[in-house]
Amino acid sequence: MKNITIAIDGFSSTGKSTIAKLIAQKYNYVYVDTGAMYRAVTLFAMQHNLVSSDFLNEHELIEALKNIELTFIFNADLGFAEMFLNGKNVEKEIRTLEVSKLVSKIATISEVRKKLVLEQKGFGVKGAVVMDGRDIGTVVFPNAELKLFMTASAEKRATRRYKELIDRGDNVSFEDILFNVQERDRIDSTREDSPLLKADDAIEFDNSDMGITEQFERICSLVDQKIGV
Ligand code: DC
Repeated sequence: MKNITIAIDGFSSTGKSTIAKLIAQKYNYVYVDTGAMYRAVTLFAMQHNLVSSDFLNEHELIEALKNIELTFIFNADLGFAEMFLNGKNVEKEIRTLEVSKLVSKIATISEVRKKLVLEQKGFGVKGAVVMDGRDIGTVVFPNAELKLFMTASAEKRATRRYKELIDRGDNVSFEDILFNVQERDRIDSTREDSPLLKADDAIEFDNSDMGITEQFERICSLVDQKIGV
């Protein structure tokens, strides 16, 4: 069977990572959550007082990029790799609403993107990889054999995100989450460097009214066609 590269792009909270993890488990592929990398750089910037809601010290953050080491370490109990920032597991910290509010701003910085895209390309040299993000099919792996583009209404996405954060005990309001989802859509789609775009050859999935099982089955049949099952 052929090893392929699967690029999954789309708006925030469209369930990209849920589908990507399931696909990676089924085909024994490596899963890379590129959003986690942008989130970890954002957490670093927050910890060093380089970013807040009304402030960004872009120059110092760019200077500090050489001191940021990002590593994915597979957690067999969870079945996926967790994000480590300079040796520390930050998987929980990078998923807070505070990080979500600042991450799109950090992701507009070209030097940040250059560093992360280089690392992301490195994960794909042998194929057998599922990567999700915003620019995977357009910039990181323009030659990926299978490209998916996930969408859903902002309300549906905010509802999913709200439930996730409430379930893990975070104190958040639905309105705040909805605003964050819409604001990230706007910044991610309009930034100059590598905006969120559907690649011409990507297959679009609107999963506003589609459950995980249906999406998973449809995507598996696309993967099977590509790998020649
Ligand atoms: O997938 P996510 O919601 O965890 O991503 C967080 C943010 O990171 C998202 O709002 C934009 C940015 N991002 C990006 O610019 N490029 C990627 N490949 C992945 C994420």
